[in-house]
Amino acid sequence: MSGFLNHAELRQLARRRLPRGIFEYVDRGTEDEAGLRHNRQAFEALRIRPRVLTGGGTRSQAVTLFGQAFDLPLIAAPMACAGLVCYRGEVELAKAAAANGMPFCAALEAINSLEEIVEASAGSTWFQVYVWQDEALVRDLLARAWGLGVRTLVVTLDSPVESKREYNLRNGFGMPFRFSARNVCDVALHPRWAFGVLGRYLAAGRVPSQSNYPPEHRSSLFASSRPVAFHDDLGWQHMHWLREQWKGHLVLKGILHPGDALLAAELGADGIVVSNHGGRTFDSAVAPIEVLPEIARAVGDRMVVLADSSVRRGSDVLKLMAAGARAVMVGRVLLYGTAVGGMAGASQAIAMLRDEIDRALAMSGGKDIRSVDGDLLFGAGRR
Ligand SMILES: Cc1cc2nc3c(=O)[nH]c(=O)nc-3n(C[C@H](O)[C@H](O)[C@H](O)COP(=O)(O)O)c2cc1C
Repeated sequence: MSGFLNHAELRQLARRRLPRGIFEYVDRGTEDEAGLRHNRQAFEALRIRPRVLTGGGTRSQAVTLFGQAFDLPLIAAPMACAGLVCYRGEVELAKAAAANGMPFCAALEAINSLEEIVEASAGSTWFQVYVWQDEALVRDLLARAWGLGVRTLVVTLDSPVESKREYNLRNGFGMPFRFSARNVCDVALHPRWAFGVLGRYLAAGRVPSQSNYPPEHRSSLFASSRPVAFHDDLGWQHMHWLREQWKGHLVLKGILHPGDALLAAELGADGIVVSNHGGRTFDSAVAPIEVLPEIARAVGDRMVVLADSSVRRGSDVLKLMAAGARAVMVGRVLLYGTAVGGMAGASQAIAMLRDEIDRALAMSGGKDIRSVDGDLLFGAGRR
């Protein structure tokens, strides 16, 4: 694997490795990508007020989430189609997460099934879902996840309609993939991907598909199937229903308003993810770091508050935690690592973040990531 020193270099390596359609699907935002830029600006506008003379020694990044201890305050975010950046991409990333003492959240729309992930990884596997209209299908899916030992269910709520990602249309990216002269050339110009990812799936007798879907609704890279309907009028009553169905930990992802955080707490959710989906869904949404302090204050200790979106440096993790998050989901940085080197690449990306978090914690005068709070922050996102 080639060396990289930071997220930007890693991104460039992933860009070279992947066909444009796949790289842009992973990397980009939506519409004018103002949300993507704003997420970064919001992190940069928030500064840290370091303390000095707090002593040296070792620092701890350990956290406890839903009663389980982890070595790092990070969770591998759920990412659809992660299995397209590398052969068995979800499995590789899950193994890296497990080896580094952090949970992996499998996506409903993954290429590699929950079964494959759970079989290959000894770590803590969470499962992210979108809610289908057909309650029987949802019940079966939850029973399947529970039977595989999943105890943390993440329900994503920030995509009531499909977001307008114009580059995906241009690139023909989707399930199924729309072939054009342009994207066939694109694949041909990336032989490592063509042979090392697509070729390996085909050689193993499988076309990459939505493996977590029921077989009759499973679209693949080359063929569509009978679509499964998502709820187009999802409401809090459906979350109450899910709460009754799921005996494990229930986490609602995509919360950006304290009012919704309170409703989540009232229905008995165990956690929320304050997230704008990494700037991929609603281009005008606030950055999570801007609303996190208010949300964390509103819910107090009633729920585990997690956060994500556009984390690129260890200091971003520290800021989110100082602003009220118990731990942080990371998406693209880990997926670039997976694209470049499978489990080893993802592990290297995690090691990079771990090192940066440690430096940021030390520079701030902290020793234990669990005790950082709003006193550390200076600027717009201060608690
Ligand atoms: C390629 C890709 C696919 C994603 N798919 C999903 C998904 O299926 N469900 C979901 O809840 N979030 C999805 N997300 C959003 C992530 O879970 C997470 O919120 C976001 O990536 C965090 O921002 P970051 O990538 O800048 O770290 C996806 C993100 C990426 C990059």
